Amino acid sequence: MLVLYGSETGNAAELAEVLGDRIRRMQIDCKVLPFGMVSVSDLQANKYVFVVCSTTGQGVLPGNAYPLWTELLKASLARDTLQSVRFGAFGVGDNAYKQFNWAIRKIYTRFVQLGATSFVARSEGDEQNPDGVEIVFDQWMDNALQVLATELKIEDILPVTAQLPPKYKICFGTSPKVDKALLKAKVAANDRITAPDHFQDVRHIKLDPEHPVKYEPGAVAYLYPSNVSVHVDALLDYQGWNDIADKELHVDEKWVELLSRPLVQPVTLRSLFTWHLDLNGIPRRSFFKLASNFCSGNEAERLAEFATTEGIDDLYNYANRPRRSVIETILEFESIKIPFEYILDLFPLIWPRAFSIASPTNQPTIELCVALVKYKTILKRGRKGLCSRYIETLLPGDEIGITIEPAPISIESKLQADQAVILVAAGTGIAPVRSLLHTLKNHKAPIFLFFGCRFEHKDYLYGEEWKQMAEATDLTVFNAFSREGGGYVQNQIEAAAEKITAYLPTALVYLCGSSGSMPRAVREAFVDVLKRTRHLDEETAAKVMAYKEKHRTFIEETW
Ligand SMILES: Cc1cc2nc3c(=O)[nH]c(=O)nc-3n(C[C@H](O)[C@H](O)[C@H](O)COP(=O)(O)OP(=O)(O)OC[C@H]3O[C@@H](n4cnc5c(N)ncnc54)[C@H](O)[C@@H]3O)c2cc1C
Ligand SMILES: Cc1cc2nc3c(=O)[nH]c(=O)nc-3n(C[C@H](O)[C@H](O)[C@H](O)COP(=O)(O)O)c2cc1C
Repeated sequence: MLVLYGSETGNAAELAEVLGDRIRRMQIDCKVLPFGMVSVSDLQANKYVFVVCSTTGQGVLPGNAYPLWTELLKASLARDTLQSVRFGAFGVGDNAYKQFNWAIRKIYTRFVQLGATSFVARSEGDEQNPDGVEIVFDQWMDNALQVLATELKIEDILPVTAQLPPKYKICFGTSPKVDKALLKAKVAANDRITAPDHFQDVRHIKLDPEHPVKYEPGAVAYLYPSNVSVHVDALLDYQGWNDIADKELHVDEKWVELLSRPLVQPVTLRSLFTWHLDLNGIPRRSFFKLASNFCSGNEAERLAEFATTEGIDDLYNYANRPRRSVIETILEFESIKIPFEYILDLFPLIWPRAFSIASPTNQPTIELCVALVKYKTILKRGRKGLCSRYIETLLPGDEIGITIEPAPISIESKLQADQAVILVAAGTGIAPVRSLLHTLKNHKAPIFLFFGCRFEHKDYLYGEEWKQMAEATDLTVFNAFSREGGGYVQNQIEAAAEKITAYLPTALVYLCGSSGSMPRAVREAFVDVLKRTRHLDEETAAKVMAYKEKHRTFIEETW
């Protein structure tokens, strides 16, 4: 049996692990793997396949769902390719995105087209749902497993308290070397570009890669952060692992395959806890479930409770609301004694962090515009994002490893010489927009930039560049300084209706920034512009925008 996940930051992967654990308790042999790691013939070889998949980008499948997804889309596949497969599908998405849960819907449709039978109704979790995704997932999982137990006549189910053997082996020895390597890049600059008294520290970062890299506006650089040594040392100390911390280890190849970065050599407990296993993230249910086996008395009960459906509120109050990290959780439970052989099962992996490239097409020095994540929890504890902490300490001359993901669409090759461009960016959403603006410095048609931030003199990112560009080219800038009475970008768009209306239907519109309420508000503002200035009714104006989206003259890059 296969449990496959498509996951960008671990949410769907976690649900797949929870499901895999329940299936193993039914004493069924089951593999939990990224969707993209298996082939069509692997699907055919399994009577039951579960798919848990999030949606990323604008309605696309996560990177680790490929190459299987490409293989499944081949027109040459016969309509009965998956006829022997019975499957269950669960989606993880966010209703704030227009393409809500598109990835799982696409997978579901394709499986059915290829003859597979869905044996439990597809279900979809929504991050906007105040009850969270877990409750919906648990209901779906319970239904699915009930059907499975009936079909396979399984009665003997191990209790949730029974400890299963480790999934991944780890022992003293050497680990095989892996060929894959990250692209090495030297930090050339790491400068704060917001005012010193502004609440947010935004960095302009310049990276010189070891060899030239090709990219276009919309491309993303992935950074691979590490845990800080105080956390690593605290864990090694607390668990009494100091004596073995630097001994070389052999780790399971199945686990190595799951890594998004090459295994850092030599492999030791210290290197694993520095580069691969996340101590800074918020522990999820599978962590509490397994950790409960390594505690005693009340502590074991409490941790086990967090992993149940009934315990979700308690888990949320203990871990999510106060943003308690893995390391803090471990240090709070006095009786916890983690058996060495369960390390790879217990600790979540560090996921790479995405940053849009802010420099123009193929510029040798890659530039990024990064807002460092720093905040206070409800317990008034200071928090820094894992990657933010890593970036904050980078100095010119430091070498880091990165990867580059190409832009989902080549805007440059799509754009006509006489086509106007409307750019909308809020905060660090300016990064891909800056890349495009510099790339289009010789563009002949008008360019409009709507930029939103709080204050003109605190966080007006690259304001000087826009002033100079506006003087030298056909660029018109509309700023929304929200704390100075300037409203938000959507208000500026509405106010500029007469200036942009002639261009809007044919212009290329590029909207970038946070995924909250901004993208929807901007779309509504454009509809409003069309209604007021072109006297269209709501439905027709909305159709114009939908047409633009479909034909990719309205492109969104939000996160
Ligand atoms: C395609 C893409 C492109 C991106 N481009 C850029 C870019 O160009 N520039 C940029 O700055 N960012 C960009 N981001 C966002 C960036 O990836 C994240 O900000 C980054 O991953 C944070 O990593 P971290 O390790 O510092 O934080 P993490 O340790 O991952 O912590 C982030 C988490 O902290 C929590 N958090 C943050 N603030 C608060 C708060 N005030 N209260 C409570 N909890 C909070 C949230 O749950 C958040 O998910 C992009 C994201 C994507 C997906
Ligand atoms: C850049 C980005 C794009 C997203 N796009 C969509 C989308 O188009 N539709 C959707 O339903 N959810 C979307 N989401 C929400 C994710 O699916 C959701 O956060 C999910 O929990 C991520 O799970 P994962 O960690 O397994 O990838 C997006 C999230 C991000 C960060």
